Amino acid sequence: SNNIFTIFWDYRQYYIKGIQYTLLLSAAGVLFGFLIGLVVALFRLSNVGILRWIAVTYTEILRGTPMLVQLLIIHYGIAQTFHIEFSVLESGIITLSINSSAYLAEIFRAGIQGVDRGQMEAARSLGMSHGMTMRSIIIPQAVKSVLPAIGNEFIVIIKESSIVSFIGVADLMFQAQAVRSITYSALNPLLIAAAIYFIMTFVLSKLLGMLERRWSVSDKR
Ligand code: ARG
Repeated sequence: SNNIFTIFWDYRQYYIKGIQYTLLLSAAGVLFGFLIGLVVALFRLSNVGILRWIAVTYTEILRGTPMLVQLLIIHYGIAQTFHIEFSVLESGIITLSINSSAYLAEIFRAGIQGVDRGQMEAARSLGMSHGMTMRSIIIPQAVKSVLPAIGNEFIVIIKESSIVSFIGVADLMFQAQAVRSITYSALNPLLIAAAIYFIMTFVLSKLLGMLERRWSVSDKR
């Protein structure tokens, strides 16, 4: 029968595999995006003109073009032009990481700029170098202040990762399409996917809200 619960039960292995891929892609995307984004933010704030230019160009292009186009360029364009073949999973993770890094770079830039200037001056007056002050004083505070924004980015990426199904990564979206074509049921397989995406983002946002409250307590000294 095409009852939504029957479909879910009969095809649960599909959805479970899909959830695993979606979580893997999103976690890897945000983790690598975090690292790349931090470097881009530092370029953006450096006093070397060419580094600033690279950072601005990088973020503007990645935020100003669709992630789907970026995915296809990485998966098909690079393969044909440079003879570098990535698996569909690799292309998916690379695309999500690079795309997310541009958004995260802007988040980090705001966070770093938001740390009181006096902190840099105080640390320098104690004899710490610029780089050391950045690493041990400014960046840790900046990262802490932008944690909620990074959490939001994670939620966005869980949803946006669905586009990797386009090249055949077996994520939740891909599995829903597979179940749809096997069952000839157009609505229910997709409603199941929608419900699962919703549960993932809802649970994550509640979790992040809890962490945020806990961390804000440790600030009240
Ligand atoms: N769907 C949009 C795009 O293709 C949004 C991407 C959002 N990415 C992000 N990392 N917040 O460009």
